Amino acid sequence: DLNGYPHYMLKEIYEQPESIENAMRGRLSDEDASAHFGGLNIDAQRLRRAERIILTACGTSYHAGIVGEYLFEEFARIPVEVEYASEFRYRNPPMDQNTIVIAITQSGETADTLAALRESKRKGHPALAICNVVGSTIAREADGGVYLHAGPEIGVASTKAFTSQVTVLTLLALYLGRMRHLSSLQGTRMIEELRRIPDVIRRALKCHDKVKQIAEKYHQYNNMLYMGRQYLFPVALEGALKLKEISYIHAEGYPAAEMKHGPIALVDKSTPSIFLVPSGSIFDKVMSNLEEVKARGGPIIAIATENDPKAEYIATKADDVIFIPDVPEYLQPLVAVIPLQLFSYHVALLRGCDVDKPRNLAKSVTVE
Ligand code: F6R
Repeated sequence: DLNGYPHYMLKEIYEQPESIENAMRGRLSDEDASAHFGGLNIDAQRLRRAERIILTACGTSYHAGIVGEYLFEEFARIPVEVEYASEFRYRNPPMDQNTIVIAITQSGETADTLAALRESKRKGHPALAICNVVGSTIAREADGGVYLHAGPEIGVASTKAFTSQVTVLTLLALYLGRMRHLSSLQGTRMIEELRRIPDVIRRALKCHDKVKQIAEKYHQYNNMLYMGRQYLFPVALEGALKLKEISYIHAEGYPAAEMKHGPIALVDKSTPSIFLVPSGSIFDKVMSNLEEVKARGGPIIAIATENDPKAEYIATKADDVIFIPDVPEYLQPLVAVIPLQLFSYHVALLRGCDVDKPRNLAKSVTVE
């Protein structure tokens, strides 16, 4: 049921204001200035004692996991590791007693993620799942967890599941943070900021026409780089993955400052870079990375904050600028990924690709 949209991917991109809302529904508590979850099945004392969290996943869900790492470290001050499930399952890393494993998966059927979950359970660790498909194998085998309630995701390229995963991870960071050192004032502020997000995403989607124009200008290039730092580093990875999987253009995501350690050698006039430069604590640093690319003749698309007093400055450096609404840094992944999803969608269409069913890919990867 495409509901009037030409493709599932576009429909699912446009569902994000509602799917994010659904991920939060009934889970925010003004009274506790915290989040609640019905199905975690792990008592507060055990969670309070957690000394380490391992997030394990594949693909897009792995990128959500990196955002989760930064969120848990900032708000809950818990050491976190994010592991590709396919590596984690065979690595046998030392894990102390108070380690909690959280598998992140849209389908709940990914073979490697399931094996990582089973291996963690076998070692006696509480193994939770952040999952979309109700009743899926991982949802059933996990000790507890949180559903995304994003509704079916049909497009092979994951879009709304990513933003719902990041939303649930933000709620978990709030919950774990409030058990530890976040004040009720900080909790209340986060709740207010989270409640505004669905409307913010509605506004972010208004960049669509601009993104389409930019896709028309850039769809013939065969290599692209995506650069972001801090919370936007995983978004750079996700933007590059979206482009590769549906348009078959070679793309790489990097932490912007890592450029000079190798990838900058790729920069020339036929390799555009997409820079994530919203306002925030490291704006100047990312801009200086952007200038390094510009100095070497690389075309630049910047994703920047609307109404930013520095917008004019960005426009003098970048060839094209896409504006997104202003949100606190920890919420920027939810907003900044929107133009990247739309960009890959339009580039793929312009190249005549099947956006909903890209070659060689399956919606759930049930073999290892
Ligand atoms: C990317 C994509 C894949 C999945 C990965 C994990 O758009 O769809 O990279 O994210 O196969 O799948 P789940 O989340 O179902 O475990």
